[in-house]
Amino acid sequence: MAIRTKLVAGNWKMNGLRQDGAMLAHALKERALAAGGTLGCEILVCPPATLLSEVGGILAGSGIALGGQDCHAAPKGAYTGDIGPEMLADLGCSYVVLGHSERRQGHGETDAVVRGKVAGAWRAGLVAILCVGETQRQRQAGEAIEVVSSQLAGSIPDTATAATLVVAYEPVWAIGTGLTATIEDIAAMHAEIRSRIPSGARILYGGSVNPKNAEAILGLSDVDGALVGGASLDAADFWSIAQSCPAG
Ligand code: PGA
Repeated sequence: MAIRTKLVAGNWKMNGLRQDGAMLAHALKERALAAGGTLGCEILVCPPATLLSEVGGILAGSGIALGGQDCHAAPKGAYTGDIGPEMLADLGCSYVVLGHSERRQGHGETDAVVRGKVAGAWRAGLVAILCVGETQRQRQAGEAIEVVSSQLAGSIPDTATAATLVVAYEPVWAIGTGLTATIEDIAAMHAEIRSRIPSGARILYGGSVNPKNAEAILGLSDVDGALVGGASLDAADFWSIAQSCPAG
């Protein structure tokens, strides 16, 4: 089986005007060019849709991949305010984050909706980063594995392959809170997820990953990278997380 190259993905969420996005992209490109392919991971940034074109242009030639934060299931149509996966691909995206807890909670996205979006992403040739994770109440009730398993079963189309699917395990209570799951809980959940997805598919951890905790988390054999929110808005912090990936 091919080695799973670690993936460090920055989810900028709804942050950044054009100038901020351009500055961050330039700072990351500079670091990528200086590293010259010596990093032990692949790097991805997912800026707000308004910045994709500009950030994509700046990052061209840097080796840093571009991704969207969400998409509609359909390629086009009467869906005011939405963006189709083909539109993301047209802007140079190779990935799209789907089913993030902020979409599941804030926009009522169900597993069935997310599943449709994942299928749409694949139709457009994008790799889907499918987010799953339990709430604090569910973890305290001992339901974490059950909840995540059911999200996986409901959100992944039957045609999933290791090349087109990345799963991001993001405990909802760890997102943006400064709390992270314990190393033992992360290892246990990732092993559980691994048994339910195509062999060789990557599993990222997300939820308050920062330069201090990245090494321990990324050192776990079943953790194939990180989905980074807050810390991805700072080029030095994000790069330091990427540098925490064990070499090749
Ligand atoms: P955080 O966000 O790193 O700010 O916790 C992670 C995410 O929501 O993807």
